[in-house]
Amino acid sequence: MSKIRPSKGAPYARILGVGGYRPTRVVPNEVILEKIDSSDEWIRSRSGIETRHWASPEETIAAMSIEASGKAIADAGITAGQIGAVVVSTVSHFSQTPAIATEIADKLGTDKAAAFDISAGCAGFGYGLTLAKGMIVEGSAEYVLVIGVERLSDLTDLEDRATAFLFGDGAGAVVVGPSQEPAIGPTVWGSEGDKAETIKQTVPWDRFRLGDVSQLPLDSEGNIKFPAITQEGQAVFRWAVFEMAKVAQQALDAAGISPDDLDVFIPHQANVRIIDSMVKTLKLPEHVTVARDIRTTGNTSAASIPLAMERLLATGEAKSGDTALVIGFGAGLVYAATVVTLP
Ligand SMILES: CC(C)(COP(=O)(O)OP(=O)(O)OC[C@H]1O[C@@H](n2cnc3c(N)ncnc32)[C@H](O)[C@@H]1OP(=O)(O)O)[C@@H](O)C(=O)NCCC(=O)NCCS
Repeated sequence: MSKIRPSKGAPYARILGVGGYRPTRVVPNEVILEKIDSSDEWIRSRSGIETRHWASPEETIAAMSIEASGKAIADAGITAGQIGAVVVSTVSHFSQTPAIATEIADKLGTDKAAAFDISAGCAGFGYGLTLAKGMIVEGSAEYVLVIGVERLSDLTDLEDRATAFLFGDGAGAVVVGPSQEPAIGPTVWGSEGDKAETIKQTVPWDRFRLGDVSQLPLDSEGNIKFPAITQEGQAVFRWAVFEMAKVAQQALDAAGISPDDLDVFIPHQANVRIIDSMVKTLKLPEHVTVARDIRTTGNTSAASIPLAMERLLATGEAKSGDTALVIGFGAGLVYAATVVTLP
């Protein structure tokens, strides 16, 4: 018989507060058109994007995270000292080690909270949320801060027609804590590593370091290009439209929710046409508020869902207590969908 005492956590977990940070600089499509042959009309109609935010040197991964987290902590009505773990989802933090989460936990004033980073691309928020729920119900933390943060402008090749217009920067954060009733449904998540090549870094860091011009992509002036995110747009688009609607439906089923019960739909903000197609496939009724934050935020990967959530609540399009379906999907390929009660 085991001598280990069972751990004691909360019966359930819920999102208690949300906060977002968008960099000050707003970048319209005209700026993107300086380097690629395209048009404002094409970008708007094919992706839905009108503007995105790009971070300044001062708007670092840590600085943006701290701003968003401060708002989420205040919104949750707790203090930083009560946070037991900080989970940061990002693919654009440039130091291999240590994790950026420890610096953020320290600067926020947590009491030596556990802190670590995860890499789950555009599904990163859902992955972090799932870990947070587990920690709270299992009892290793009372409150968990989940941050999705990106500076994708650092990893964008502005001469690449397929991606130059897509990405943006920003941070979104939620505080997850104890609940007396279910408020985060079962997560439907997974990975399809056989499709890993469809979204990837152009050149791995070790090959970039060798600096062999014959092996590396060059820009229009013959300089070695900094590694960037590249994708097979059509393949990812098709996968998102066909496969992710099924995953979203599975998350509804797992939570015991029908589309009629839903108030809000917050899919990853990758392309407005993907969002519209999912709404149609899922047969979401008219009353469901759909996040289309992509128009002014672009694709901010791990930050996109919490940023969209924060904006819907701030504008009054969604309200506290609403039932929302969230789904993230991207590089890996990975995905995560769940139904949550909004903070
Ligand atoms: C990137 C994306 C917007 C491109 O839209 P698309 O409709 O698939 O565009 P295609 O690649 O099929 O290209 C269609 C045409 O537009 C052209 N085109 C491509 N990029 C262009 C651009 N920036 N401006 C103008 N024309 C462009 C192509 O050359 C092609 O022309 P052709 O028909 O003469 O051959 C879309 O594929 C997409 O959003 N993919 C998924 C992104 C995503 O979900 N990422 C998630 C993970 S982060």
